[in-house]
Amino acid sequence: MTSYQSAKEEIRRTADIVELIGRFVKLKKAGRNYVGLCPFHAEKDPSFTVNAERQTFHCFGCKKGGDIFSFWMEYHSSTFPEALRDLAERYNVTISEGFSASKEREKAAQRESLFRLNEKATVYFERALGHSQKGKSARAYLNRRSLQKDTIPEFRIGYAPDEWDGLVGILRHEHVDLNLAVQAGLIISRKSGGYYDRFRNRVIFPIFNLRQQVVGFGGRVLDDSLPKYLNTPETPIFHKGESLYGLHASHKMIREKGRVVIVEGYMDCLALKKHGLNEVVATLGTALTSRHVRKLKGYADEAIVVFDADEAGKSAALRSLPVFSNEGLSAKAVVLPEGHDPDTFVNLNGLDVFLEIIDQAFPMFDFFVEQRFSERDSDEGRVRALKDILPVLSEIRDFTLRSLYVRRLSERIGVKEDVVLSELTRFMKKPSGEAFERKINGQMMTGKKAQKSLTDLQLLNLLVHYPETVSRLMACECRTLLSDPVVMKIVDTIFAEFSQETPFSPEKLLDILDSEQACEQLREVLHRPFVCSQQDVEQAVVEFEEEVYQAKISVSFQRAKERGDMERLVQLTKLKTQGPLRS
Ligand code: CTP
Ligand code: MN
Repeated sequence: MTSYQSAKEEIRRTADIVELIGRFVKLKKAGRNYVGLCPFHAEKDPSFTVNAERQTFHCFGCKKGGDIFSFWMEYHSSTFPEALRDLAERYNVTISEGFSASKEREKAAQRESLFRLNEKATVYFERALGHSQKGKSARAYLNRRSLQKDTIPEFRIGYAPDEWDGLVGILRHEHVDLNLAVQAGLIISRKSGGYYDRFRNRVIFPIFNLRQQVVGFGGRVLDDSLPKYLNTPETPIFHKGESLYGLHASHKMIREKGRVVIVEGYMDCLALKKHGLNEVVATLGTALTSRHVRKLKGYADEAIVVFDADEAGKSAALRSLPVFSNEGLSAKAVVLPEGHDPDTFVNLNGLDVFLEIIDQAFPMFDFFVEQRFSERDSDEGRVRALKDILPVLSEIRDFTLRSLYVRRLSERIGVKEDVVLSELTRFMKKPSGEAFERKINGQMMTGKKAQKSLTDLQLLNLLVHYPETVSRLMACECRTLLSDPVVMKIVDTIFAEFSQETPFSPEKLLDILDSEQACEQLREVLHRPFVCSQQDVEQAVVEFEEEVYQAKISVSFQRAKERGDMERLVQLTKLKTQGPLRS
């Protein structure tokens, strides 16, 4: 056994998957499993299950699943070596170096180097801000923006001096591979050769992941020049549509309060925190994505989004509606008075006034309908607004919710419900857009499901949930009844495992099976409760034995008939009524 395998097993023994996943996903106990909203796909009703006994998870919706390592890799978009290292650290397991020699390791090593580089850069920016001369203007700027003294070290805010090769120089001096720094988005290579710093004369906000590592940076100018903010471009460790600024510091409070306040900017987030609102994150100016919401719904039951009062803010509210609905996170919306953002507002009025506004937040749909209709009360205006809303409604997957919104909308705009509904239906029937694609996907999914025969699934359930039946089912050659190649593969593996003397455990199969399809199928069975009485189990085994027996006789019967062997035919007819010999 290689050392990483023993580390892997030790981690598995030490860790509790329910506790670990529970840190990222709200889990509720349901029978033998824990269930929650899947962090990997859009859903309103929980189909994500975690099984404490087997230490596995499985989502019945998107089919993702596996052990703690699979979870960690998927959730943190990391490679296996990274997951192994993170979890080893978390559970105090030591691993010897050089545990993997694949591409995976290269990728992990690269990401690791990018994190290290970002750390170096963060320290460089922090020092520059503290530097008596170089950091003076930036310190004065932060002071003007009334950032608290503690916030600066807590969020590791820094300053990129007004130099073309400040960071380049430091990295050179430390013999860092400058190409890597280009990949990290920290420096840019000149066409004419050489490199220069991306961030110059800007206040720097490092962006952290949940592991407190710096994934990227945002840099703000000290005056009114443009662009106001410059961010790290997409890198192997930084994806803007996923990052939530402040989540690393807020997630505990978000969970405790059960709600999260979502704002747009770095300074908005920091200002609210400074005033004592701790359940806050910022989206960094991008539209809210389902990946954002998936992260948040692991901590919060409700989101309150603070939008700008301008047209851009309103359309952002509109676009976020299906994102929240489809992810099943209930959302409310507020706008601050014209000309304010959370930063200016809370600094001027204090937290209590801000909280009052939050408490009056409208549910997202109502908010959005009000926004659309208040100014457009002419007939043409209403038709236009309806046209704006239809695409948004069509994105909402839940039929009941969609119908509810249609009713509310028709009441609000004074158009008959049927009319709104038929407009919506017409829109959704257009053979374009996401709705159509989903329909096709849906059909493909059901087609796939229908193929699995009941016999296949029943047999698999018996073998997996009642391993004491394995020897009898193996002996009666029940395998001949199977029709699905994936199930056959699993059953073969079960029998092969059972034949070796090792105690047979279904979880272990997940490691042995070399096909992802087979693992998926097995997890599906493992995570679906299958409880029957001892009598039912006995009955099922007997029926399987009988079925195999009859099938065998039919084959022999057919052959004897073809040969014209009358004697054998008579014998077989007798055997048929007699049934299989019971031991
Ligand atoms: N943003 C960005 N790039 C820009 C402008 C904005 O990435 N060129 C992101 C930043 O995360 C910013 C957020 O969008 O914090 C909101 O933008 P905006 O409202 O324009 O700025 P504020 O957050 O109000 O910035 P400040 O208070 O520092 O002026
Ligand atoms: Mn602002």
